[in-house]
Amino acid sequence: MTTPPAKIILDCDPGHDDALAILLAAGSPAVELLAITTVGGNQTLEKVTLNARRVCTVAGIRGVPVAAGCAGPLARPLETAPEIHGETGLDGHDFPEPDVPLAGVHAVDLILEILGREPAGTVTLVPTGPLTNLAVALRKDPHTFRRAREIVWMGGALGLGNVTPAAEFNAYVDPEAARAVFASGVPLAMHGLHLTHQVRVTESVRRRLREMGTPVGRMAADLMAFYTERYRRRFEMGDPPLHDPCAVAFVIDRSIFRTQRMRVDVETRGEFTAGMTVCDVHGVTGRPANAEVAMEIDVVRFWDMMFLALAALPIQSS
Ligand code: BDR
Ligand code: CA
Repeated sequence: MTTPPAKIILDCDPGHDDALAILLAAGSPAVELLAITTVGGNQTLEKVTLNARRVCTVAGIRGVPVAAGCAGPLARPLETAPEIHGETGLDGHDFPEPDVPLAGVHAVDLILEILGREPAGTVTLVPTGPLTNLAVALRKDPHTFRRAREIVWMGGALGLGNVTPAAEFNAYVDPEAARAVFASGVPLAMHGLHLTHQVRVTESVRRRLREMGTPVGRMAADLMAFYTERYRRRFEMGDPPLHDPCAVAFVIDRSIFRTQRMRVDVETRGEFTAGMTVCDVHGVTGRPANAEVAMEIDVVRFWDMMFLALAALPIQSS
């Protein structure tokens, strides 16, 4: 018997790596993409929502609703990341006018509508930005929110930071939301920087993208060229880490990951550590585990998965 595709809602803030997460989800036969929801993060809500529609247009993703969500964090002003993603949030490619419409529903309501409609325990939420939309959905209707099968988040880190020495961007932007979502009771898998830094967009990956010769390949190659340049400037990293697709890959095939269950607490106030995900690797707190933390990934199998998905795009409408 073949396993049915995993139903997911991708909640994102595109963003160069979010764009590749959308492509991986849409191009993989192991995923049924029920919705793309957006949240203020890498850029303003308006910009990241336009970017989601742009990526969908190039990739022929037409039947999937794209809904805009929360413009900013629960309790603090939005901080964006133009130094990595540019002024549009998706600099580096010359996009055509998007022909994928914006759904006339708020992302939070769409998430709850889908969770209420699909059988309980069948929909996985895959957030690759700040957790604001999920926290608001949880607050609005906790019963329906808890029908989610799992939350697979790209965010946080085990002992690393990229905004401050202690905090990863998605956790740092809305730590109050992250704290609420970790406490929701829905099983949660965390893909932090310690994991995503294992997946590098190397010169050979960039060349392979360019050589695809399709509109999707050109878009991905242009985006990764810009992203590489910005990572070099900001972090002096030769080959940038590809964060967000890791969370989608986990839904597709978790056998390419090694994980460890542990207690993760989100710091909301620390003088030097606001937004830090405090990971109790050795169980020293004695508090119950609340997350499955991805520790290692098989990088070769990840790229096989990614290129297979990209080759299936654009989706041809029948
Ligand atoms: C995360 O921050 C964003 O800039 C990326 O899209 C990714 O989700 C990495 O820290
Ligand atoms: Ca992101």
